[in-house]
Amino acid sequence: MMNLLAQTQWWNWLPEKGSTFTQWVDPLFYFELILSVVLFVGIGGCMFYFAWKYHHKNREDHPHGSHHNNTLEIVWSVIPLGIVMFIFVWGFRGMMDMTQPQAYSTEIVVTASRWNWQFSYPNGAQSSMQDGLTVPVNQPIRIVLKTPLTDVIHSFYVPAFRIKKDAVPGRYNETWFKATQTGEYPIYCAEYCGQQHSQMRSKVRVVSEDEYYAFLADAANFLDNDPPAVAGQKVFAIKGCATCHSVEGKPGTGPPLNDVFASKVTLTDGSQVDADENYIMNSVKNPSSQIVAGFQDQMTVLDVSEKELDALIAYLKSISKHYVGNKE
Ligand code: CUA
Repeated sequence: MMNLLAQTQWWNWLPEKGSTFTQWVDPLFYFELILSVVLFVGIGGCMFYFAWKYHHKNREDHPHGSHHNNTLEIVWSVIPLGIVMFIFVWGFRGMMDMTQPQAYSTEIVVTASRWNWQFSYPNGAQSSMQDGLTVPVNQPIRIVLKTPLTDVIHSFYVPAFRIKKDAVPGRYNETWFKATQTGEYPIYCAEYCGQQHSQMRSKVRVVSEDEYYAFLADAANFLDNDPPAVAGQKVFAIKGCATCHSVEGKPGTGPPLNDVFASKVTLTDGSQVDADENYIMNSVKNPSSQIVAGFQDQMTVLDVSEKELDALIAYLKSISKHYVGNKE
């Protein structure tokens, strides 16, 4: 039993420590927790004690009623004020540190959308929700947070780093952190954003500086370096297409996308269209214009460049049995 208690660290209520912000959040949390318990037990205890001690007495025992006591009033006003100011100053210093990114931070753009996290690095490299956000250890990282105009509010939440910041359509938000040890830490969406809110999970991979630069070099320029269909598969992951579109034929929030290219697609109005390059382009740029029968108008308009679009089309060709052109 003692062994189990020691293993689970039952006294440790907070997530693992992954960033410098734990120095602010954790002690303040425990201070407030212990203070609250002490005050609750103290005040509650006094209340019950006095209720017991003075029960059964009627007013005749106190002919003059209770008296005003200046000293008492001042003491029980000033002490709580002092405690609250102490907590305020402590919390404010932490807040100032947590809201002001350090100069010379590595800047990474995090795009939240229904239902995807996309990470864009300074050299143009990108990584997908599945692969996670890769950052170097012991370096300040500034996060620029955004979400497409047509999307909803999400919230970038990394419990181990003690950061949580909303991504709001129509504005950029920022946050920052300095990871203190290598490892993997979960990212959650902390703002309810619809059907697959709970699936908006990713991770931060904190690696050594060498590993980080190796990753950057590797992840950059894949659109130029990989064959189009392979690059397209990466774009498919990075843009979060897989969240709604399976490539194994199983309908999700959106239609499955294997065996679609070069097939005939039936839309909600009953009309049939050829799934050619234009169909794919339209579906990406203006998804509401052609909703596949049996599905709802749910897709976010994503920011996809011409190159990325070409790669996506090449990928969809490569996974369609109907397409008989140049396959890998
Ligand atoms: Cu995105 Cu909840």
